[in-house]
Amino acid sequence: MIPRSTSLLRRSLLAIAATAAIVPAAFAQAPIVIKFSHVVAQDTPKGKAADYFAKRAAELTKGKVKVEVYPNSQLYKDKEEMEALQLGSVQMLAPSLSKFAPLGVKEFEVFDLPFIFDDYSDLHAVTNGPVGQNLLKKLESRGITGLAYWDNGFKVMSANKPLKSVEDFKGLKMRIQSSKVLDAQMRAVGAMPQVLAFSETYQALQTGVVDGTENPPSNLYTQKMHEVQKHVSVTNHGYLGYAVVVNKKFWDGLPADVRTALNKAMADATKVANEVALKDNQDALAAVKASGKSVIYSPSIGERFLLKKAMVPVHKQMASRIGQETIDEIYKVTGFDPSKL
Ligand code: LMR
Repeated sequence: MIPRSTSLLRRSLLAIAATAAIVPAAFAQAPIVIKFSHVVAQDTPKGKAADYFAKRAAELTKGKVKVEVYPNSQLYKDKEEMEALQLGSVQMLAPSLSKFAPLGVKEFEVFDLPFIFDDYSDLHAVTNGPVGQNLLKKLESRGITGLAYWDNGFKVMSANKPLKSVEDFKGLKMRIQSSKVLDAQMRAVGAMPQVLAFSETYQALQTGVVDGTENPPSNLYTQKMHEVQKHVSVTNHGYLGYAVVVNKKFWDGLPADVRTALNKAMADATKVANEVALKDNQDALAAVKASGKSVIYSPSIGERFLLKKAMVPVHKQMASRIGQETIDEIYKVTGFDPSKL
């Protein structure tokens, strides 16, 4: 006969074994959570692409990964989200390319140079080629892995007065992103740049803290900035796009098969992002027009040329900050030659 104490021990061991058999299964099912924070509305190119990525990531990893998207600066504003990524409080972001210089990677401000890209095809030749890929690699030393470039679009200028000629910008307080190149661009036309977080821009325009701003139409419209700006000028003077980035330590620590699936989900989301960006910006401009709240002005070829002439000297002025080499690499890809102006 088994002594009572031994049988009790056996029963306890059996109970522990049974629990142990259940617990690992429960752990195995707990998905890896990726918090993806961004500052724009859900119905923007970035917002839609982030949601699509979340869906594709769940499909391709068969539920092993759950991407939680937090739009509209719900979690963090521009500057804080970068810090949160580096600390690992969030795992993924898609900040605009203008927002990487404060991390010390000043080369990214090359994308802010006015009139450096004529169109999306110029831009994609850069982002899909070695220049764009080498720029992403520079983020590694900051604990960040760059996964992809996502488009938004070419920027319009807005204010409460018509912006037709260079003189019209004189003395205007213009909200910009935290980029020294954008600062120089606004000063080149006599405006007074003011850095503000994206989430604070609408109110600053509404209360007159600033007079105007620049952004692609999709951002202008989804933030309702056109309701507090009487005039929009379709200058297409510069580009605004994103780098999708992830905390490097988190990314490197993922199982290889999960990383492969997420890379595929990202490639699919990038395709969607760029298609949506093109369409949303056209639609947004039409919607601003239809709202009747802002008058849309399309500068003539001559007016645009004068704006270009006033702004392009910023390329030379900013060369020591960005690196002439990076600027030249882009000129080589796009064929832009500032001396021919
Ligand atoms: C801005 O601050 O104007 C943009 O970078 C916002 C965004 O993420 O599109």
